[in-house]
Amino acid sequence: MKFAVFGGGLALVAILCALAPTSAQNLAGYSMVGEPVQISNGLRVALAKAGADGSWEGEAETLTLDAEFQSDYRLRVKIYNTTERFEVPLKIQPTSEGNNNPLFEIQFWSNPLFSFKVIRKSTGTVLFDTTPGDFIFADQYLTLSWTPGSENVYGIGENEQHTFKHDFSQNNTWALWARDQPPEFTKNMYGVHPHITVLEDDGNTHSVVIVNSNAQQFTLSSGPTINYITTGGILDLYFFLGPTPEDVVKQYVEAVGRPQMPPYWGLGFQLCRFGYDSLENMKRTVERNAMYGIPQDVQYGDIDIMHKNLDFTYSRERFEGLPDYIRELKTKGVKFVTIVDPAISTGEEGYRAFDLGNELDVWVKRPDGNPVVGQVWPEDPVYFPDFSKNSTREYWITLLKEFHDLLEYDGLWIDMNEPANFYDSNGDCSDNNLNNPPFIPEIVDKNLRSNTICADSVQEAGNHYDVHSLYGWFQSEPTLAGTRAGTGKRSLVLTRSSFLGSGHWVAHWLGDNWSRWTNLHYSIIGMLQFNQFGIPFAGSDICGFLEATNAEMCQRWQELGAFYPFSRNHNVVGQPDQDPAVWGPAVAESSRKALLIRYTLLPYLYLLFFRAHNVGGTVVRALWGNYPSDPNTRNIDKQFMWGNGLMICPVLEPNKTEVEAYFPNTRFYDYYEGSEVAVKGDWTTLHAPLDKINLFVAGGSVLITQG
Ligand code: GLC
Repeated sequence: MKFAVFGGGLALVAILCALAPTSAQNLAGYSMVGEPVQISNGLRVALAKAGADGSWEGEAETLTLDAEFQSDYRLRVKIYNTTERFEVPLKIQPTSEGNNNPLFEIQFWSNPLFSFKVIRKSTGTVLFDTTPGDFIFADQYLTLSWTPGSENVYGIGENEQHTFKHDFSQNNTWALWARDQPPEFTKNMYGVHPHITVLEDDGNTHSVVIVNSNAQQFTLSSGPTINYITTGGILDLYFFLGPTPEDVVKQYVEAVGRPQMPPYWGLGFQLCRFGYDSLENMKRTVERNAMYGIPQDVQYGDIDIMHKNLDFTYSRERFEGLPDYIRELKTKGVKFVTIVDPAISTGEEGYRAFDLGNELDVWVKRPDGNPVVGQVWPEDPVYFPDFSKNSTREYWITLLKEFHDLLEYDGLWIDMNEPANFYDSNGDCSDNNLNNPPFIPEIVDKNLRSNTICADSVQEAGNHYDVHSLYGWFQSEPTLAGTRAGTGKRSLVLTRSSFLGSGHWVAHWLGDNWSRWTNLHYSIIGMLQFNQFGIPFAGSDICGFLEATNAEMCQRWQELGAFYPFSRNHNVVGQPDQDPAVWGPAVAESSRKALLIRYTLLPYLYLLFFRAHNVGGTVVRALWGNYPSDPNTRNIDKQFMWGNGLMICPVLEPNKTEVEAYFPNTRFYDYYEGSEVAVKGDWTTLHAPLDKINLFVAGGSVLITQG
């Protein structure tokens, strides 16, 4: 039996179809009770448990599915039960357009188990069909499988992915649970983005976003089929119908919050390292870069500038004179961004951040009401502020304001906010269903408490079990508010952990990447994904963070990184310096050359951000973002574009003086020569000497430049 439901006037048409019984009878699922009924902006379906037993504790006997036709291009499908369950406190904004002529149709099927399909009306393409697998809604195990509208599937994060377009033949499982985890293939990393973009075979595009923060996973297997499992919350799906790739991003950020407008200086080149270890060394680095004429807009301070790794301090031994130096930098047009970790040391006498935290009672608690104790960079144990509390917001803003009186920072860098915990909380986490749930996704260590705090810790917004991956998200808005209060300016916040909608407040760097050639390629994939996730201000540590880099890799990486929206060279403690000047004239010169092109084009980059901020959309995008109906573009992730105007074709391998590049079937002009490229709709080999990054301007575009 099929109930076809059309949007618009929400006319409900029930069509009876005789269908051959399918193997679906062996699956766990639900059946429809009665017919869909109309609710204010959509349809409600009542469901009752049917089919095979899912064998999970607390399976809901009945469920409600609300299909909300939120606009012509936005559909929400919310599946929930009568008991109160955790829902992510993300405020989805209303759409500016109404629901007059939806681009989609939703169909409800009883075959005999319940399933639903979302269909693009104009083409008949089935975008989402839940027929293929078990549909289970238990207390700590919720699963749904579907056939996506095409195999051209992109997104899901944050994990290191080796191709931008997913490869369904690999049966990869992508688990999501915020973790202090350097990038390694498939492993769950810092942020959580249950966000998929699908490029339909005919070039239309849509995205599917699941508003859920619990430990979860997506498995992509041949079919194509996507299996989704989450360990809590509800099944809350949003469909954004596009139809262009940029429309999809616009529609998504309209819902979750459009990206923050970075200050102009934030788009300049930034220098950082963990382990300058002295003010002299920091100064030396800045000076040698200036000597080579390398443009620098931001200097960073990492935790080694702190006194005993304590937030809101600086070392008066190793960094004596830092406040004056920051002021001096500003006179040269160089801003200062410094790091703040969330966890607060408990071991200091008269430590304001700890004392005020106690006074305002801001800490994440154990179930017995005592603060959760962990270990991060300071030598003594730490407490974790619960940023989901209002009093913590006030606490944080107060501290950030006061901190600005000490160090006149221009922006802040919030790290370790998964939250990371070096202390093995193993023994502290009682054996209960939050710490040891019946199902754990394929996360690192198969253990929720690994590298973080116990899942049964208590926060204002809910159990840590539910809100863990929202830690950095909750911290982001108060940090931006605090930097604004401190600086009196627009400011900039760079976060490691992010969630749906984080881009409204923060930028993101791709974490503790490796100084390896492969990581140049993966950085493009990460940056493209975060643009789709509504955090366009993204980039990875240029020349790589972990391990030592080398001159050739750093030279190529500086050239590529000159075209990251967020362009920062950063390095780990203990490795040799890797700023562009340290390698001598050749690397310095080509870094300078690439960066000066970036600076020439900054007004264009700023415009792209201004658009993303005002109407939404990406800043950098894959070629298919501009040429979605060209099938040749769909696998390309070694080239990318700024807006629709500039195409960047970097070299990503050692010992190469050539690079293969694809040119869509349109006019492109060589950035350097101005000559038109003869190749159209085909691949060609470009000359790429060590000191050059190939750049092309798309015909018909306007790139605003500056001197
Ligand atoms: C984390 C950050 C890294 C930083 C280091 C010290 O590893 O990801 O960027 O340098 O901590 O603060």
